[in-house]
Amino acid sequence: MINYEKNMAKAIVSENKALIEAELEKLYAVDASPASKLYEAQRYSLLSGGKRIRPSLVIESCRMLGGNVEAAIPFAEAVEMIHTYSLIHDDLPCMDDDDMRRGNPTCHKVYGEAMATLAGDGLLTDAFSVCVMNPHVTGDCAATAVALLSGAAGSFGMVRGQVTDLYGESNKLTEEQLVELHLGKTGAMICVSVQLGALAAGIAPNDERVEKLTAFAQRIGLAFQIIDDILDATASEEVLGKSVGSDKDKNKTTFLSFFTVEQARAQAEEMTVSAIKQIADIEGSERLIALALYLCDREN
Ligand code: IPE
Ligand code: IPE
Ligand code: MG
Ligand code: MG
Ligand code: MG
Repeated sequence: MINYEKNMAKAIVSENKALIEAELEKLYAVDASPASKLYEAQRYSLLSGGKRIRPSLVIESCRMLGGNVEAAIPFAEAVEMIHTYSLIHDDLPCMDDDDMRRGNPTCHKVYGEAMATLAGDGLLTDAFSVCVMNPHVTGDCAATAVALLSGAAGSFGMVRGQVTDLYGESNKLTEEQLVELHLGKTGAMICVSVQLGALAAGIAPNDERVEKLTAFAQRIGLAFQIIDDILDATASEEVLGKSVGSDKDKNKTTFLSFFTVEQARAQAEEMTVSAIKQIADIEGSERLIALALYLCDREN
C-alpha cells in the first residue's frame, strides 16, 4: 500500500461523521402514532454506524473548491439517506438476503420485510426533499442537485447496477460488464457526492474542476467496490460489521471471479493512484487525496 497520512484521513472521516450524524439525528422523531415503527426502523438503519464516506466526499469537495461546508450538509444528508435506503433494500431476502449490517441485525430482521421496504421507500423519497430545501443555495442550484441525485440513484445509475448485479448471479458477466456494474451500483453515488459538493460551493457542473473531480470519483468508486468484493471474501463479520461470504453464497460475479485477491488489490491501488492524478493539481486537494488512499486501505 502507498504511504499516506492515515491519521489525517481518519480525522477527516470522524470530523465529517460527527457533522452529518448530528443532522441525521434530527430527521425522524419517534412518536405515539401507529406509524411510529417506521421512524424507529429508519432511525435504526440511519443511525447505527456506517462510515459516512459519501457525506465526507460531499463535504470535502465543497471545502476544496472554497465553499461553505454548511451548504454541503443538506446534500450530504440526502446522499446518506439514499445510500442507507439502498443498503436496507440490498439486504432484503429478495436481494442479497443478509442478516448483518453496520454491526447490527439488518433492518428486515428486526422490523420485518414490509417495514424495512417502507423504511427504504421513505428514506429515498425524503432525501429529495432534504436536498431541494437546502437553505444555503439558490433554487436553481437545489434543482440541479435533485436532478443529479435522481440520475445517480435511479434506473440509469445505482438501480441499473443493482439489476446487473442480480443478473450476474445466474449469468456469467464479462469483465467489462462487471466494471459497468460497479460503476453503477457503487460509482454513481460516489460520483454524485463530489458533484453535489461542487454545487454547494457554487461551482457549475461544466467547470473543469468538476470534470476532474468526477473522473477522480469514478476511479475511487470502482476501487471502493473492488475492496468491498475483497472484504466480503476475506474479512470477519466482526470487523466488517456485515455478513461475509455473501457474494460466494449467492454465486455473484465479482472482481474475485476474474482475479486473485492480490491482483484485485493491485487493481484497486492502481485505480486509486489514477484517481489522485486527476485532482492532484487542484489547490487544496490534500484532504480528498488522503481520503482516497484511506478508502483503498480500509478494513471495513
Ligand atoms: C456498502 O457501502 C455498500 C457498497 C456500495 C459497497 P459502505 O461500505 O460505504 O457502507 P457503510 O455506509 O459504511 O455501512
Ligand atoms: C450494494 O453492493 C450496493 C448498493 C447497496 C447499491 P453490495 O451488495 O456488494 O454491498 P454490501 O456488500 O452488501 O454492503
Ligand atoms: Mg448487493
Ligand atoms: Mg449486499
Ligand atoms: Mg459487497
